[in-house]
Amino acid sequence: MSWTDTHCHLNHPDLYADWQAVWFRAQQAGVQRLILIGYDLPSSQRALELTAHADAFYAAVGIHPHDAAHCDADALQTLRAFARHPRVVAIGEIGLDFYRDLAPREAQYRAFHAQLQLAAELGLPVVIHCRDAYDELLAVLSEYPAVRGVLHCFSGTAVHAQRGLELGYYLGIGGVVTFKSAEPLRAIVRTTPRDRLLLETDAPYLAPHPYRGKRNEPAYLSLVAQQVAALWEVPLETLAQQTEANVDRLLQRCRVY
Ligand code: NI
Repeated sequence: MSWTDTHCHLNHPDLYADWQAVWFRAQQAGVQRLILIGYDLPSSQRALELTAHADAFYAAVGIHPHDAAHCDADALQTLRAFARHPRVVAIGEIGLDFYRDLAPREAQYRAFHAQLQLAAELGLPVVIHCRDAYDELLAVLSEYPAVRGVLHCFSGTAVHAQRGLELGYYLGIGGVVTFKSAEPLRAIVRTTPRDRLLLETDAPYLAPHPYRGKRNEPAYLSLVAQQVAALWEVPLETLAQQTEANVDRLLQRCRVY
């Protein structure tokens, strides 16, 4: 059985210091591929650099809504150059965050549109971050019908999930699905089309039960997988085959060069 952690931050200081040990434990747990997600220019560059160390590492480059105020013309030019790197498989994480509001909303919208345009131009999928802004975010995504991607760490309602699926997006499911309080999310996962779900950890954040609150790492993807397999009432083997096929499809369909 092999798995892909479709969203982790080995490029984050909390994991980067001992990334070799983290990667070793991931492989021991059957996690054979990692997609390293950027959230600003330095972390995007570090994700690219890490891909030189293992064929199993892929990168996404992008500017998180928290950092949207820094997404100016120069930053976009740098991002465009990063995105042409052969190991880059997506633009992200990008989106809207009206929960923490660390950047002015106008700047968040501007950065989000600019990066969606870049994704459309390069034929790359997008990795979407969204907190407390699903209505606004889905309205923006509907303006880019050629762009596909994943709603990372999906936390919207069943109606939002339905709308996202209609727009062609995948639902990214991580450690939150194992939390006691996450019954509404588990209900969504039960009925998510089998070909539209991706597994992720978001490490070092959002460690699954029983590690909640601790540093997360890709090896814990197995705990997310066990929960999803239980909800789908399928063997782990079946879930692994299905989700690996989903990863391959998302990454290939959108690739134009
Ligand atoms: Ni993330």
